Amino acid sequence: MITNTELEYKGNLYPNHIVEFTQDTDKLYFTTANGVVLQITILRGSVFRFRYAVNHIFEPDFSYAIDPEGTMGYSKLEVVENNTEYIITTARLSVLVDKMTLRVQISDLNGTIINEDELGFHWEENYEYGGNTVKMSKITQTGESFYGMGDKAMHSNLKGKKVENWVTDQFAYAKEQDPLYKAIPFFIGLTKGNAYGIFFDNSFKTSFDFSHERRNVTSFWADGGEMNYYFIFGPEMSKVVSSYSSLTGTPELPPLWALGFHQSKWSYYPESNVKEIAEQFRQLRIPCDAIYLDIDYMEGFKCFTWDKNHFPDPKRMIAELEEDGFKTVVMIDPGIKVDRDYWVYNEALENDYFCKRGDGPLMHGKVWPGECNFPDFTNPEVREWWAELYKEFMTELGVHAVWNDMNEPAVMEVPSKTAPLDTRHNYDGYPCTHRKAHNVYGMQMVRATYEGVKKYVYPLRPFVITRAAFAGTQRYSSTWTGDNVATWEHLWIANVQIQRMCLSGYSFVGSDIGGFAEQPDGELFARWIQLGIFHPFCRVHSSGDHGDQEPWSFGTEITDVVRKFIEIRYQLLPYLYTMFYKYSKENLPMIQSLVFFDQEDSQTHFRTDEFIFGEKILVCPIQEPNAQGRRLYVPRGIWYDFWTQERVEGGKEKWVIAELDKIPVFVKAGAIIPKYPIQQYVGEKKIDELLLDVYYKEGTETSEVYEDAANGYDYKKGRYALSNFKLTGKENSVTVQLFKDGDFETDYQTIRLNFYGLPFKIKTVMVDNEEIVLENLLLENDHVLRIDKNFTLLHITGNI
Ligand code: GLC
Repeated sequence: MITNTELEYKGNLYPNHIVEFTQDTDKLYFTTANGVVLQITILRGSVFRFRYAVNHIFEPDFSYAIDPEGTMGYSKLEVVENNTEYIITTARLSVLVDKMTLRVQISDLNGTIINEDELGFHWEENYEYGGNTVKMSKITQTGESFYGMGDKAMHSNLKGKKVENWVTDQFAYAKEQDPLYKAIPFFIGLTKGNAYGIFFDNSFKTSFDFSHERRNVTSFWADGGEMNYYFIFGPEMSKVVSSYSSLTGTPELPPLWALGFHQSKWSYYPESNVKEIAEQFRQLRIPCDAIYLDIDYMEGFKCFTWDKNHFPDPKRMIAELEEDGFKTVVMIDPGIKVDRDYWVYNEALENDYFCKRGDGPLMHGKVWPGECNFPDFTNPEVREWWAELYKEFMTELGVHAVWNDMNEPAVMEVPSKTAPLDTRHNYDGYPCTHRKAHNVYGMQMVRATYEGVKKYVYPLRPFVITRAAFAGTQRYSSTWTGDNVATWEHLWIANVQIQRMCLSGYSFVGSDIGGFAEQPDGELFARWIQLGIFHPFCRVHSSGDHGDQEPWSFGTEITDVVRKFIEIRYQLLPYLYTMFYKYSKENLPMIQSLVFFDQEDSQTHFRTDEFIFGEKILVCPIQEPNAQGRRLYVPRGIWYDFWTQERVEGGKEKWVIAELDKIPVFVKAGAIIPKYPIQQYVGEKKIDELLLDVYYKEGTETSEVYEDAANGYDYKKGRYALSNFKLTGKENSVTVQLFKDGDFETDYQTIRLNFYGLPFKIKTVMVDNEEIVLENLLLENDHVLRIDKNFTLLHITGNI
């Protein structure tokens, strides 16, 4: 054990006793005799920022992760001092700072310790590169669980694991392999029913140890930069994720078509092949909204060029596809081919936009086109230039959306798989090496892409996809989980990764359905589609090496299953869009792991398979071959089987039959689920009626439906329709209240309500206090009725 007066122990340096305390409004400074300064900023009553300076010197206060538009504010702040500590109190938390060691202990106002330093802040000088390895260690409480951290391909509860954040091109990664494509240094701790979050805002390589090396210790450290972390208190996990999301941002609404089904492959070419694929979708009546062009559309893999042999007239092709309801998404990589006859290369070279090595030469690396140089996207001028490169694509050719890949950046034929560490970066005016800029490189690339696409598809909304990401990238782009493999294990991984990403503030995410490397059989493909339609981003993509991976590639039985599930996604589009609205506006993750849904139920703390799609639909994929069904845990509450409408009581495990054309899906009692008719693509049909599936509940439940023009920015001027439903079920009656917000006029005039689980036969129906003759309302059977969309109060009574 180290004592308070020792400053060095096993090569680490420690702060000693506090000699000065000062306060500057929301910032508190504690300075130790050996020159460590702890700055605590109060952002909210439940959100604090901790920064530690060594030798009195803070790093420049700059972050790519933090959303400049985030709002903060607190009501109460009090600091008192006794012999041994300073005590900071806000409306939600109390923080003790130990005078002898600078260690911190955070409790709620009942005195329950939420999080506590073990050794606290310490550091090691980095003699090779300069700066320090900055470290923090905390006490792990008994029974504490850990979640979040982005795309880690491991059990959702990270207790006992050690992980690293260094964005990496990890082709055909394995379960437990780490690091992968994203760096999201944010975790959620759950202890004694209280959830808190820690976001370590440091772009160097970071590591997190969740009681792996030492059973009672959780620690995190970075290879450089500053110990700079945000502490977020819940106690609900939803509050933690929501506060993290308001710190690092959420995206604006995407065009609705981006939530449709997308088909991709490496690569569809030439034009005739693209057309054939598109036609097959329409002929087989499998809904699809977008088709992707991977690198082979380019000439010699040069970004912003077209292979004119394969695509003689891209503008015409894109227009024809659009006629048929398909959006065209094209890939753009960061590596720019070294070629003096290539305009993009020449522009970047002349303007000094490429990254350079420590001693001055340009940074070179091999990617698809061969030798490449790499734009320094951390330079704002480079980002502006890059954004402009999209002008012709978007405005002249009519490209709809862009897919950024290999932006870790991936470099071939070198052991590090990426740029050398001495590569220099502008880092928005805080020049540094790749050690600091690596994790944000892809983020800054896709940020530039987003700006360009947004500008040039205006007045429509942009849609962008990225592979590499750092915390905050969700503001600019959707993402996918990279080069997975067509195995059952990867289906499990995809499920966990998507849940984990959603808990980490990054909801617009999906996996390569069916697997990127190798070839699934029909059963695996069908089971993966059944999961994938419940992911926010839904795309089939494959390497194309081993055969085809279109919905019809595995025989008619599989085609039918795939169609059936894609149709469900299209029916659920208004539900999905509402999920996105709530993510964008209210920071609510689009997918909730069970622990997020019900953290007080300890049964949920180690579950990986089941998740809540949106707020009301429980989904559990089938993750092994030859299954006739599976056991799953149904969370507490009353649920309805989506397929049979059978009422199920939760809080226990259940065996559910799920032959090849089904997976376990349940709807929460009281939910009102909006549906559209099946369309072959978004906007194919005018929606002339909104279908609401209403699931009876004894008690009250609220549901929302968000709609707008499905593209464009009118919604920002109030032209949206937000319907807030409140259902109250009693033994022999149901009331549905509707409060509307926004002034968007939907095309439809009527709503068709389909009641499930009513414990009575409908006897009377009152709409806005007027009794309606039943025959005028009831449709094909006794629990479906049609009413005007502008009702405010629906009251149904029945005979038991
Ligand atoms: C990378 C991407 C993959 C893409 C391929 C070719 O492996 O992850 O999605 O198809 O490059 O561009």
